[in-house]
Amino acid sequence: MLDESYIQIAIELAKKGKGKASPQPLVGAILVKNDKIIGAAYRNSPNEESPEIIAIKGTKENTEGATLYTNLEPCVLSSKDPNCVETIIQSKIKKIVVGIINPNPSCGGSSISKFKKAGIEILSGILEKDCYELNRFYFKHCVSAIPYITLKMSTTIDGKIADANGNSKWITSVETRSMSHELRSEYDAVLVGYNTVKIDNPHLTVRLVEGRNPKRIVLDSDLKLSPQSDLVRKNYDRNLVIVTAKKNRDKKKVVKLKSLGADFVFAPVRKNGNLDLSVVLKKLGERQISSLLVEGGGKVFSNFIYNKLEDEVLIFIGPKILGSGISLTDGVRIKSLPKALKYSIKDYDKVGEDLLIRLERR
Ligand SMILES: NC(=O)c1ccc[n+]([C@@H]2O[C@H](COP(=O)([O-])OP(=O)(O)OC[C@H]3O[C@@H](n4cnc5c(N)ncnc54)[C@H](OP(=O)(O)O)[C@@H]3O)[C@@H](O)[C@H]2O)c1
Repeated sequence: MLDESYIQIAIELAKKGKGKASPQPLVGAILVKNDKIIGAAYRNSPNEESPEIIAIKGTKENTEGATLYTNLEPCVLSSKDPNCVETIIQSKIKKIVVGIINPNPSCGGSSISKFKKAGIEILSGILEKDCYELNRFYFKHCVSAIPYITLKMSTTIDGKIADANGNSKWITSVETRSMSHELRSEYDAVLVGYNTVKIDNPHLTVRLVEGRNPKRIVLDSDLKLSPQSDLVRKNYDRNLVIVTAKKNRDKKKVVKLKSLGADFVFAPVRKNGNLDLSVVLKKLGERQISSLLVEGGGKVFSNFIYNKLEDEVLIFIGPKILGSGISLTDGVRIKSLPKALKYSIKDYDKVGEDLLIRLERR
């Protein structure tokens, strides 16, 4: 089989760790000898040994002369496996094929040079684009120390995210809702604005599919969040994070909400009355949140877009027209078409009766 085919298998294996490996990268590793797979593993939790090591230790065959295929360069400084590179060298494999070099500043390329020194043949850059895409959350976080940001919007054909009464249930189909839950399970955190909590009283959990719940983050400058809201009352997993003004004076309410399991991030408020998103994102990055799914509403979408913070936009379009209601990006006011913010379409698909478009800023 070709190197590409084995790296493709490693990528598919790595995908099984989605939503479980963070803040560690998604890694799939396979050991091949005489064109036969003799060992395989993927990262299923941030706290376990590297998949390369699990594959080597788990095989019943002699690893001498085998080839190791992995979508990401093994990290020379892995805290979980300080001896990861050494163990690979001792296994006497003869060749390592790597999808992409690890961009982690404390790692990039250094294990490759160790392997080369030990006489192991190295081939890198196989299906590099796919390997990058697979670990885009990890790469963004390690390079910029802030999370990878996806805006997830459900809209009518005419760009409304809710009707004139603020009701958004349901713009899109049950299939889209189920896919949204699947997405939640893959991200470290979801984020909404205070108005969305007030109007929708959402749970922001994963219920329609199997998977772990992300952190649930609310932007609430004045700490108006009601202890009676479902986000607070049903915070069984203690994943609720409230972002509020640094100068919040309602200390009693902070204490009360903390006693109900809420965690707090304090951030400055800008002149326009909004929490300073650059500070919020930095603080979330420090908490090892490497991916953030922004779920609305309109003011929050507008603010992320206005400040050019999004890495990608997922827009689910329900085939409906409202004419009036709450707009997708009311706060983004561009006066002329030549100055319009421009996106390119990365992907599109039909989900139930809806259209899903994946966009990236040009
Ligand atoms: N179709 C969809 O995809 C979708 C998704 C979600 C919601 N919705 C709908 O959207 C509506 C609510 O949207 P909305 O535009 O009125 O409000 P929103 O975006 O949900 O919340 C905005 C509020 O969040 C707080 N906030 C704090 N810092 C912020 C920042 N940096 N940027 C933006 N907001 C910040 C502010 O309240 P404080 O000043 O009090 O902090 C602000 O007024 C509801 O009707 C809901 O059903 C639709």
